[in-house]
Amino acid sequence: MKKQDSKISRRKKEHLDIVLNKNVSFISKTTGFEKYDFIHYALTEIDLNKIDLSTYFFNKKISFPFMISSMTGGTSEANSLNADLAIVANELNIPIGVGSQRQAIEDSEHHTTYSVIRENAPSIPVVGNIGASEIATAKNINKFQKLIDLIEADAFIVHLNPLQELLQHDGNMIFKGLYKNLEVLVKTISVPVIVKEVGAGISKKVAKQLLEIGVKGIDTAGAGGTSWAGIEIIRSNRSLDNPFWDWGLPTSYCIRKVSKLKKEYNFTLIASGGIKNGFDAAKAFALGADIAASAKTVLKILAEQGIINTIDFIIDWHETIKKIMFLTGSEKLSELNKSKLIRKKELY
Ligand SMILES: Cc1cc2nc3c(=O)[nH]c(=O)nc-3n(C[C@H](O)[C@H](O)[C@H](O)COP(=O)(O)O)c2cc1C
Repeated sequence: MKKQDSKISRRKKEHLDIVLNKNVSFISKTTGFEKYDFIHYALTEIDLNKIDLSTYFFNKKISFPFMISSMTGGTSEANSLNADLAIVANELNIPIGVGSQRQAIEDSEHHTTYSVIRENAPSIPVVGNIGASEIATAKNINKFQKLIDLIEADAFIVHLNPLQELLQHDGNMIFKGLYKNLEVLVKTISVPVIVKEVGAGISKKVAKQLLEIGVKGIDTAGAGGTSWAGIEIIRSNRSLDNPFWDWGLPTSYCIRKVSKLKKEYNFTLIASGGIKNGFDAAKAFALGADIAASAKTVLKILAEQGIINTIDFIIDWHETIKKIMFLTGSEKLSELNKSKLIRKKELY
């Protein structure tokens, strides 16, 4: 007889179903990217064919400044999905995050849903993942090393999700001790720690606190894309008319503010939260991000159109970025900076 899926497994499955079948976008809040335009540089001399978007993600060279955000694992449905996502990431030589590995701490039943990523992507950067409440309540921080070893992770993400836990039926609201344990985690595990949100954004104040204890990557996961409040509101069958649906700091605001900390700290700034095309990503770079990342957009294309079209979509998105670099006179990604952007309100 098939063993019953655990509560966490069922929850991960419901998340996938809701993201793929319901509208979980923000209602009136946006990423803010639409408020910017590029300054056309009519005197460009850039050779479009010579633009090279390859860069480094921690110490591995990647072909595009793009990461597939942490999504799933720990439920039977995740096996083929994660295998497919890994094939896409491997083909493109880009980093990929696994979904929360909380289920893998509980038992080993679904371990393959995570390790399948490494099997299909032997050398690209693969990033582990765990939620804030797991860190806050952990008695023994060493146990997280096992999660890293399971997928031979190159970095480890901790996701901060107080809004999601607040709205989740049975959410884990114990965050006391989080900051102290995060500091221990940074010192204990064998790989760099990245901290992300899940759609409500990381402020400059939070980023500074994290960088101060040695966190090496900040992923904005800002508002304007997938609303995790929305997902939990739908899951709990509550009225959809809930003001927390749209809670959070817009992605463009987070990038703009957090990137100012580059003067003081050495870290990788990942722009995510509602990044859905090459224009969004290019604006994220111009505002100060090192790489862009996306979850729902990639998941939907993969589910609806398959592996080949997903690869083509991501390649096409980077062709768009190259065209933007050509038209703004930016030879390297680092030249696609704030000087190439203008707020639309200044144009009229
Ligand atoms: C189906 C799905 C599952 C997710 N699961 C996780 C997770 O386990 N851990 C995590 O850090 N973020 C998780 N996220 C959040 C994403 O990594 C991302 O931060 C968020 O969806 C915002 O990005 P987007 O607007 O591109 O979707 C998940 C997202 C989706 C769509």
